[in-house]
Amino acid sequence: MKAIILSGGKGTRLRPLTYSGAKQLVPVANKPILLYCIDNIVQAGIKDIGIIISPETGHEIRNAAGDGSSRGISIEYITQEVPGGLAHAIKTARDFLGDSPFVMYLGDNLIGSGIERFVREFMNTSPDAFILLKEVDNPGQFGVAEVSGEGRVLRLIEKPDVPPSNLALVGIYIFSPQIHRAIERIKPSGRGELEITDAIQELIDMGCNVKSLVLDMWWLDTGKKDDMLTANATVLDEWLRGNIEGETDDASRILGRVAVGRGSVVTGSTVRGPVVIGENTVIKNSFIGPHTSIGSNVKVVNSSVEHSVIMDGSELRDIERLEESLIGRNVKIVRNNKMHKALRLMIGDDSVVEV
Ligand code: G1P
Repeated sequence: MKAIILSGGKGTRLRPLTYSGAKQLVPVANKPILLYCIDNIVQAGIKDIGIIISPETGHEIRNAAGDGSSRGISIEYITQEVPGGLAHAIKTARDFLGDSPFVMYLGDNLIGSGIERFVREFMNTSPDAFILLKEVDNPGQFGVAEVSGEGRVLRLIEKPDVPPSNLALVGIYIFSPQIHRAIERIKPSGRGELEITDAIQELIDMGCNVKSLVLDMWWLDTGKKDDMLTANATVLDEWLRGNIEGETDDASRILGRVAVGRGSVVTGSTVRGPVVIGENTVIKNSFIGPHTSIGSNVKVVNSSVEHSVIMDGSELRDIERLEESLIGRNVKIVRNNKMHKALRLMIGDDSVVEV
């Protein structure tokens, strides 16, 4: 069994964060989403991973994921020259995949468990495709499945105007080599892409066995803006372990599960978990509330923050209350008391500021 992780795409729905980096490297609880995908694949016993990259962001993905040797696995990089769709990505990886069955993992998808049991189920029952579904409130934004009473997949449609069910296709799939035959037979969709949804529909039409399982745990497609804060909160809630490696002084209160990285210093502050703080960060005279991830080399002074993500190198000074915010790298938010009624902003394209 091999695996491919799709890490291309332009990440338009996560702008402006994706102007300066790949969406798969946006951190959730201070760890890039892509690394959660790799962990899950490795835990399922798969040692041969191909990462599909785009010419634009491929180098960053390589730097973040490496060649796998430190984990005793092999990671190869395969460049998809054009964003031609998920089925096109499989076509691009054809040489890497050979005739092996494989997991396809979209590098911006997070689920509340590993994938070991899905891989085992695939091995035991040998279908041609094994897909995961999840009940959602907004099925029109995803691939949608129509399923018979016994869980047999009858029909799949990509982002339908009138969804036939509320079952969305999760971005983790397991395929037999039959998928390559199906991909040869499909045509680009209305958005000009070779859709994986159409390829799986083709498998069904070819009489192949497509199995599905409805997930009973959370699933987040972090490629979408609103999901980022939810993903951060969920991962902190479920997976964060308290661990103080940095320093906290006697005037500070650390409550609940809080992780403070090496070289970080918390003084005169209250930190109410679940909260993760990276390395070499300074938190001074501040309140850090639940569901907050603060990166490395950040300064938070005389401020209050909760339910937010503050990435590396940013600074917050004299900010009375910041909540539900996603702050990129090296951002400075400071209060200028001399001009208390005026806002002075330098904000990148596609930013959102609510005052
Ligand atoms: C892709 C798939 C879609 C699936 C979704 C899951 O959509 O085309 O079927 O439901 O991933 O993340 P995209 O995110 O490329 O719009």
